[in-house]
Amino acid sequence: MGDQQLTDGECSGTKVLTMETVNPNVVKMEYAVRGPIVTRAAEIEKELAEGKAKPFETVVKANIGDCHATGQTPITFIRQVVALCTYPQLMQSPMFPEDAKQKAKRILAACNGYSVGSYSASPGIEVIQKDIAAYISRRDGQPCNYSNIFLCTGASEGIKTILKMLMTGKSGSEQAGIMIPVPQYPLYSATLTEYNAYPIHYYLDEEKGWSLEVSELNRALKDAKGKCIPRAICIINPGNPTGQVLSRDNIENIIRFAHKEGLVLLADEVYQHNIYAKGSEFLSFKKVLMEMGPPCSWIELASFMSASKGFMGECGFRGGYCEMVNFQDDVQKCLLKSISVKLCPPILGQIVMDVVTNPPQEGDPSYASFQEEKNTVLKLLAEKARLITDLFNSIEGISCNEVQGAMYAFPRIYLPDKAIIAARNMNQTPDFFYCSHLLEETGICTVPGSGFGQKEGTYHFRITILPPLEEIARVMELFRDFHLRFLNKYK
Ligand SMILES: Cc1ncc(COP(=O)(O)O)c(C=O)c1O
Repeated sequence: MGDQQLTDGECSGTKVLTMETVNPNVVKMEYAVRGPIVTRAAEIEKELAEGKAKPFETVVKANIGDCHATGQTPITFIRQVVALCTYPQLMQSPMFPEDAKQKAKRILAACNGYSVGSYSASPGIEVIQKDIAAYISRRDGQPCNYSNIFLCTGASEGIKTILKMLMTGKSGSEQAGIMIPVPQYPLYSATLTEYNAYPIHYYLDEEKGWSLEVSELNRALKDAKGKCIPRAICIINPGNPTGQVLSRDNIENIIRFAHKEGLVLLADEVYQHNIYAKGSEFLSFKKVLMEMGPPCSWIELASFMSASKGFMGECGFRGGYCEMVNFQDDVQKCLLKSISVKLCPPILGQIVMDVVTNPPQEGDPSYASFQEEKNTVLKLLAEKARLITDLFNSIEGISCNEVQGAMYAFPRIYLPDKAIIAARNMNQTPDFFYCSHLLEETGICTVPGSGFGQKEGTYHFRITILPPLEEIARVMELFRDFHLRFLNKYK
């Protein structure tokens, strides 16, 4: 624009991009996890800093699964390797254990010019692809070919890349249809809107602990007939925002369904380390699919993992990977071309992903401390998952399914008619109305259930289980007082 900045009013007639001309899909897309409630929470934080009087002293950010932002400490070994790779002079320092140095040297040797400041190959650094493949192999007891792994800028980018491959390039009844759960993590709905694809919603059954029933998958697919070309089914396991963990039976039925209907399976498995409930275990779609044998073991599967969740919670490094199983060679080459346009995923994110999948082994100097730190984080999360579920279920007008895994509770709120009318009068959804009052009166920042989708006539909100244990009791007391006041006001 040169040196002279014009004001909006002066130049509005000359703008190429206005709200009328900008890509309508981008205008339409919504992402509630960082929506208006969160924007308001940031304003409130500023108001508090300016000394404005509020009925609370801090904002509790329980809206997003950002572990370190809510006080979780980084795993030492991960940071040591990242530090050594970033500043190799530290190799001389006695502060760093030998195994971290060895690991850093091995990764640096695979970096162009021995520097994390250089680009890597587009699917990632080959030794890291190999470490990830070895991890998957150990986890599933199945072979894994490293050339089927591509690293990405957080799982988000991998998911968007695969979704892009699934688009038909056509519109109307020929547009791609992707089956997504309701409730779902809004990356999926937002991306489908952005790509002009058709979301085929299948509902999770809240009464049965957010279970995924094949009869509902059949219903959803039947309803989508003639509206799109169904191409894939997306499963989030463990679930976000719903926290359920799928059983082997359940997974097998989904695989049979995908096979029968000729759909690609997208398995979002970013919470694979976050399993808390007794009797629940994480089973990857790849493992179950391979164990089922042909023809189910032939279906195309893309599975996603992230550095942002689990015990590491390293969201800011933007590490993640996708494993592609059973895709045609030509399709995989085409995908490689597509990701090569982005050059490469962040090197430090790749390094974090490497340490997660190839951690210190028994006998290594850092083995004991790594295990101890990892188990402490996961044990604490399990304790908070139980505590939060129990506390919600002890409050009148709330019910909450067990948080079996992931990082969120998704309680149902039974709102009085008067509250629903008051919300509608303000042009707000009732759950938005509720969450926005919760924020203004207590400082607790949550995400309304409507941002994830929910059965018509039901209301929820998502809250993370991440705040420190000592804070949870205080937050839940604040919450209980607010909720009872709210019920009383609108009863
Ligand atoms: C289910 C699910 N998938 C994918 C992501 C994306 O994670 P990232 O891009 O940070 O790896 C998230 C983040 O919260 C998530 O909850």
